[in-house]
Amino acid sequence: MDYHIKDISLADQGKDRIEWASLEMPVLRFIGERFSQQKPLKGVRIAACLHVTTETANLAIALKRGGADVFLCASNPLSTQDDVAAALVKFYEIPVFALKGEDRDTYYSHIWECLLRVPHIVMDDGADLTSTLHMIAFKDYEKMPEPVRRGIAEIDEKTLVDNVVGGTEETTTGVIRLRSLEREGRLKYPIIAVNDAYTKHLFDNRYGTGQSTIDGILRATNRLLAGSYFVVCGYGWCGKGVARRAAGMGAKVIVCEVDPIKALEAVMDGYLVMPIAEAAKIGDFFVTVTGDISVLRKEHFELMKDGAILANSGHFDVEIDVKGLKEMAISVRRVRDFVDEYRLKSGKRIFLLGEGRLINLVAAEGHPAAVMDMSFANQALSVEYLWKNRGRLENKVYSVPEELDKEVALLKLKSMGIKIDELTQEQKRYLSSWEMGT
Ligand code: NAI
Repeated sequence: MDYHIKDISLADQGKDRIEWASLEMPVLRFIGERFSQQKPLKGVRIAACLHVTTETANLAIALKRGGADVFLCASNPLSTQDDVAAALVKFYEIPVFALKGEDRDTYYSHIWECLLRVPHIVMDDGADLTSTLHMIAFKDYEKMPEPVRRGIAEIDEKTLVDNVVGGTEETTTGVIRLRSLEREGRLKYPIIAVNDAYTKHLFDNRYGTGQSTIDGILRATNRLLAGSYFVVCGYGWCGKGVARRAAGMGAKVIVCEVDPIKALEAVMDGYLVMPIAEAAKIGDFFVTVTGDISVLRKEHFELMKDGAILANSGHFDVEIDVKGLKEMAISVRRVRDFVDEYRLKSGKRIFLLGEGRLINLVAAEGHPAAVMDMSFANQALSVEYLWKNRGRLENKVYSVPEELDKEVALLKLKSMGIKIDELTQEQKRYLSSWEMGT
């Protein structure tokens, strides 16, 4: 079996951690058990570009139990857990191409390794795999990452693209990229936007990113949040979670937004709301979770206090203008794991965490398994749905079918031992009619 990982001797530790995560993933386990009996994915080749974590390992194992051949590469150069990669190779015979800290060329050479296996289904987190496939389809050699350009001579591009029956996308940023392809009428296969499922973004983005972002900041800095000014840029699903956790730990939370409705929501949720140019002068911690570019930039770094700490939890490392910060700095040095000190001409120090990449995966372990249970149950069911309906779907971005979303919620409740009410016949009639008033 081909693979490219850091160190196979880490496999035992990785296996223990995969099993530990599995304890908190009852829904995925349940789906995995059904898959292993029914084998709905027999012979299906799946290329997965996801953060290589314990939770992703459990997803890959469930898909394999369903009969699929799964190949895994990382969806971020810094998020790979090398022990998990080793365990997947050694104990589960799943080829992994991922190393924590890989450079851009290696990152894309790993994506290429997964594509070389001519997948039927692609699973993505941030759309790097899908966009690479589309560059191949469009013969867009200029934009193509170098390792892919070098590799395409080895394969028949048309067969590669035509073989894909569909894909899934895990995160907000990826869905935005794919919707843009769809709008241009250039999407080559149907995509299921897993992020849009209620049982994904309501829990994963809010509670998962909320808790794990704080976890990453604390592991990297060991700073006290209580009493600090904690600036959250972006009050979407992730931002709400981060703000709530920071406030819960005693920080004075400031929200910066561009959407008036979200800003108003933040005001009524009890936070200070102001433009980033104001917040920059006050904040002790800054976290970006917008999915947008250059949210914190030179003009803001100028205004910040000595010792300000910057972190990003949005998908790509574009939210903090790291290049701009470097240009302003007279020196840069690593002062702790995942903490770089940028000293500016004025003598002021700004600390950047995790090189501006998603801090929850770089300095901590990503989302807790209990929320990834639902996100990845949606992934597993969406893959099954795509395969079952191959040839019948249009080249569009679809939401997760409502019945699958509800199934995930019901299974999760069941695993927690929580029962809920059912509508009576009278209530069903009432709720579906217009005639009855007072
Ligand atoms: P969302 O769309 O719900 O929220 C983003 C918010 O940022 C919106 O309210 C938008 O108005 C605001 N915004 C955009 N540009 C801004 C700017 N310049 N200044 C201030 N606010 C701005 O998106 P969601 O789901 O909260 O995701 C945010 C990012 O986090 C995405 O990149 C997503 O892919 C990523 N993500 C990261 C996770 C992680 O593990 N770290 C997990 C889930 C999502």
